[in-house]
Amino acid sequence: MLKVLLAGLGVRGRHWAQVIERSERAELLAYVDPSADELARAAAEFGERPAFASVMAALDSLDDVGALVLANPPMGREGIVRAASARKLPMLIEKPLALSLAEAATILRIVENAGIPLMVGLNFRYLAVTQATKRLLARQTVGNPEFARFTYERWRDGRRPDLNDYPLTMAHPMLWEQTIHHFDLMRYVYGQEPLRLQCQTWNPSWSMYAGDSNVSALIDFDGGLRVNYQGTWQGNWAAPGFEWRTDCTDGIISQQDEFGALYYARRDDAELTAVPLPPHERWISETRALFAAFVAHVVDGAALQCSGRDHLMSLAMLEACIQSSASGGGAAIDEVLPEI
Ligand SMILES: NC(=O)c1ccc[n+]([C@@H]2O[C@H](COP(=O)([O-])OP(=O)(O)OC[C@H]3O[C@@H](n4cnc5c(N)ncnc54)[C@H](O)[C@@H]3O)[C@@H](O)[C@H]2O)c1
Repeated sequence: MLKVLLAGLGVRGRHWAQVIERSERAELLAYVDPSADELARAAAEFGERPAFASVMAALDSLDDVGALVLANPPMGREGIVRAASARKLPMLIEKPLALSLAEAATILRIVENAGIPLMVGLNFRYLAVTQATKRLLARQTVGNPEFARFTYERWRDGRRPDLNDYPLTMAHPMLWEQTIHHFDLMRYVYGQEPLRLQCQTWNPSWSMYAGDSNVSALIDFDGGLRVNYQGTWQGNWAAPGFEWRTDCTDGIISQQDEFGALYYARRDDAELTAVPLPPHERWISETRALFAAFVAHVVDGAALQCSGRDHLMSLAMLEACIQSSASGGGAAIDEVLPEI
C-alpha cells in the first residue's frame, strides 16, 4: 500500500480524498491544510487522521510517507516541492504546476535533480471519451485530422461556495485554470506538438474576474493540424456549451460534452454515429484512472505519465497566448520554452 500525504483539502482535495480512499493500492495517511476548518471538514467527511497545517510540519512528524498528492492553489509550491524532494517523495501535483513557465521550470529542475517522479493532475486525459477519440484517430475511422474547432462556453460563477475563489483575482484565470486542460488534451489526443499560435484574451463588460476570462486562439501543430480555440468562463448563459469538432480527410469527429457525447460522421452520412462510452462518475472515474497510473509508476515501475516535463509544453502554449495577445502578433512556442 502506497501511503499518501494529501495536501490541500479544498474542492479538488476532496475529490482526491475519495479517490485515494477508494484505491486498493493506496492508503490516505494524513491531511495537510492551513485552514483548521478544512481539516475538521475532511476529518468529518473522510475519517480522523493525523492533520497538519503545512507539508513541512507533516514531513517533520511522519516517517512513513510514500508519496505526496498536492492540491493547493498553484501559487507558492516551490518550497513544498523542495521539502518533498529532500525526502525523495514521488509527487502528484494538480495542474497548472505553477502560474508562470519560469516557476514551473524551477520546480521541474528541483525534482529532476533529486531524481524523483512528478506527475501532473491532467485527469481529462483519462476520460473514456478522450481514450475513445484517440482510438478513432488511431484507427483512422474518418481519416487523418487536418483542422479542428474547440469551443468551451461556461458561465462560471466564481463566488459559488462549492468552487475555488482565488481565480477571481489572478491574471489570466481562464488560461491557467481551464484552457490548460484543453491545450493538454489537444497535444495528447492528436499526438502533435504546437509550433506557433495567434491569440487574443479579453474580458466581457459583465466579467466578475479581474483577469481575462475569454481566450481565442488559432494554433498550428507540427503535423500540419490547425485548431481554432475559443474558451470563456463568462459565457452569458448558465447552460454550458461544448464542442470539439475535428475535420479529417474522410469525415468528422465531434465531442459534444466535456465528459462524453462522442460522435463521428463520414462526409456523406445523413446523421452522426454515436460512440458507446461506459458510465462515468464526474471528477472521480477519470481521477481514479490518473491515480492508478501514478501508483503503477511509483510501485510497479510503469512508465511515468503526465510528467512535469511534458506539462511544460502545455504551459508554454499559455505563455505564448499571453505574449501574442499583448503584442498583437503571433508567438512561436520554441521562443517561449525555457532551457532545462
Ligand atoms: N484537475 C481538475 O479537474 C481540477 C479541478 C479543480 C481544481 N484543480 C486544481 O486543484 C488545485 C486546487 O484547487 P481547488 O479548487 O481545490 O482550490 P480551493 O481553493 O478550493 O482549495 C485549495 C485548498 O488548499 C489549501 N491550501 C492553501 N495553501 C496551502 C498549502 N501551502 N498547503 C496545503 N494546503 C494549502 C487551502 O486552505 C484550500 O483548502 C488547483 O491547482 C486547481 O487548478 C484541478
